[in-house]
Amino acid sequence: MPTIAIVGAGSGLGLSIARRFGREGFAVALVSRTQANVDELAEELGKDGIDAAGFAADATDTRALGAGFAGITARFGPVEVLSFSPSAPGDPRLRPVTATEVTLADVLPQLDFYLGGGIAAVQQVLPGMTERGSGTIIFTTGGTSANPGMRPAFASIAIGAGALRTYALSLHAAVAGDGVHVAHVPLSTWIGQGGPETQPDTIAEHYWSLYTRREGAEHPYVALP
Ligand SMILES: NC(=O)c1ccc[n+]([C@@H]2O[C@H](COP(=O)([O-])OP(=O)(O)OC[C@H]3O[C@@H](n4cnc5c(N)ncnc54)[C@H](OP(=O)(O)O)[C@@H]3O)[C@@H](O)[C@H]2O)c1
Repeated sequence: MPTIAIVGAGSGLGLSIARRFGREGFAVALVSRTQANVDELAEELGKDGIDAAGFAADATDTRALGAGFAGITARFGPVEVLSFSPSAPGDPRLRPVTATEVTLADVLPQLDFYLGGGIAAVQQVLPGMTERGSGTIIFTTGGTSANPGMRPAFASIAIGAGALRTYALSLHAAVAGDGVHVAHVPLSTWIGQGGPETQPDTIAEHYWSLYTRREGAEHPYVALP
């Protein structure tokens, strides 16, 4: 049974991606900072017959993430798909700051969260993937990562997420010949805030589709009102 690890798994898109891949026979490893949160998600997936377990780790804490992935490997074996999609809208260090006022102090926590977390998560899975010659890594950010001009008020976030996007596209090119597919999804929507196209279950279909097609580095999803 292949395994998907979702770093930044919550009740929104994380749960929907887990369910979509779980439905196809994937085991699901859910990673977030709060054990109770991921345990609850694993229990919910279990009701659908999906083999899932939660692992508490902060993606910005490399050592904690390493311990989390050691637990994942012990429980499920190698990770075939990594989804990096954390979201922490309530964290004051990650607040949006407009382009005319943004400082380096506003940007550094964003870089730590997006780029630092993304690199740390990749380091946990990439050596095994290249060794096996198979694997998929999917990064998710908001649409400003690819199009910062769409929301100048979100400049601090766009800069951090844009750095992750640059890393994702670079990694795509670097490992394409090793059987590893790296994809980036700039998500221009408010999840669950509009019609069916904004619902996380609908968006998760986009992830399953890009996973099965295995082509292209960037897969934008746009559902703005
Ligand atoms: N929500 C939107 O409208 C929206 C719009 C555009 C793009 N996106 C992108 O879509 C993705 C999913 O968003 P979502 O809102 O649906 O999220 P979600 O899957 O409901 O939850 C994400 C989870 O990430 C966890 N998290 C936060 N910081 C973390 C860290 N440092 N290390 C590990 N886990 C962490 C949080 O759980 P803990 O608190 O337990 O850590 C949170 O529950 C994200 O990449 C986000 O940037 C979302």
